[in-house]
Amino acid sequence: MDIHYFVRRIAVVGAGGLLGQYVAAKALGKGYQVLGTFHDTSIPPSGIEAARLDITDADEARQVLRGFGPEAVILASALTNVDFCERNPSKAWAVNAEGTLNIAQACDLVGARLLYLSTDYVFNGEKGSPYLEFESPDPLSIYARTKLEGERLTMDASTKNVVCRVSVLYGWNRLSQKQNFVTWVIDSLRKGKEVQLFRDQTVSPTYVPHCADVLLGLLESNARGIFHTSGPDCASRYDIGMKIAEVFQLDASLIKSAMTDESKLVARRPACSCLDVGKAEGELNMKMLSVEEGLRDMRSTEGKK
Ligand SMILES: NC(=O)c1ccc[n+]([C@@H]2O[C@H](COP(=O)([O-])OP(=O)(O)OC[C@H]3O[C@@H](n4cnc5c(N)ncnc54)[C@H](OP(=O)(O)O)[C@@H]3O)[C@@H](O)[C@H]2O)c1
Repeated sequence: MDIHYFVRRIAVVGAGGLLGQYVAAKALGKGYQVLGTFHDTSIPPSGIEAARLDITDADEARQVLRGFGPEAVILASALTNVDFCERNPSKAWAVNAEGTLNIAQACDLVGARLLYLSTDYVFNGEKGSPYLEFESPDPLSIYARTKLEGERLTMDASTKNVVCRVSVLYGWNRLSQKQNFVTWVIDSLRKGKEVQLFRDQTVSPTYVPHCADVLLGLLESNARGIFHTSGPDCASRYDIGMKIAEVFQLDASLIKSAMTDESKLVARRPACSCLDVGKAEGELNMKMLSVEEGLRDMRSTEGKK
């Protein structure tokens, strides 16, 4: 018999970020009571309760979560700039690892289940095909090491907790000007600028509105442990760029093929960090959204709130 968790009150930590904003909005749409926490950038009023929270402050984390009393918490806050993390390892550790510990301990205190967002970059990318959840991580960068530590801290805090790994998040950012891979390519091509896209970095792009539904579905189910919740594709950044140009009817001749070792990136990236999403699809009895479907949805929802 399937067991379903009753979730009525949910806290989204990092509700001002790309993924967090969609999780908070979808949770509200499902009729949950939602607390959305923000850090530097405040979030506009939208029916969710908002609170400032710096996850590196353990006392604040306890106070904010105790005050709201959620049954579930989604941790979408992180330092996500991979090269910034490489240059600032202590800051990356403080937010991505110690910040996660603070949230995991606060969740334990209030009896909430924690869903932690992690990354395909925990793998070294040498396998050459999509990774399954149980395969051994081997992070190549500081960002990936701190996120892997966040996974471990989440799993150690409670057997009820869930880790969801995603890859190259994309979608319209309704709350800030911060670009993601897809919006950066669209913006550049529209301005007639050339973009150099790697042929030797293969990823599983993850459409944030769909991913938000997947995460909430996992929280409502009996899921526990690690899940890969990216899109189902395994494609190079160059090929994804060509697909963006096709769907948005932009000039594909502006897309130039590049190789990672020709670039000035500070942190190492895995060559093929694609994720196998079969376990999550089986758990939820649904298919993940392909990059083609995600891009078409973006095209039809541009400018809408
Ligand atoms: N983006 C990707 O392609 C990608 C790929 C794989 C995995 N992931 C993972 O997916 C999750 C969501 O990523 P995203 O791209 O949606 O993130 P994002 O847009 O970069 O947002 C991250 C959020 O974290 C907040 N934050 C930073 N430091 C904080 C602190 N000390 N306390 C509280 N909040 C803090 C930021 O707030 P301020 O801006 O106000 O500081 C921001 O709202 C992250 O865990 C990330 O590691 C992302």
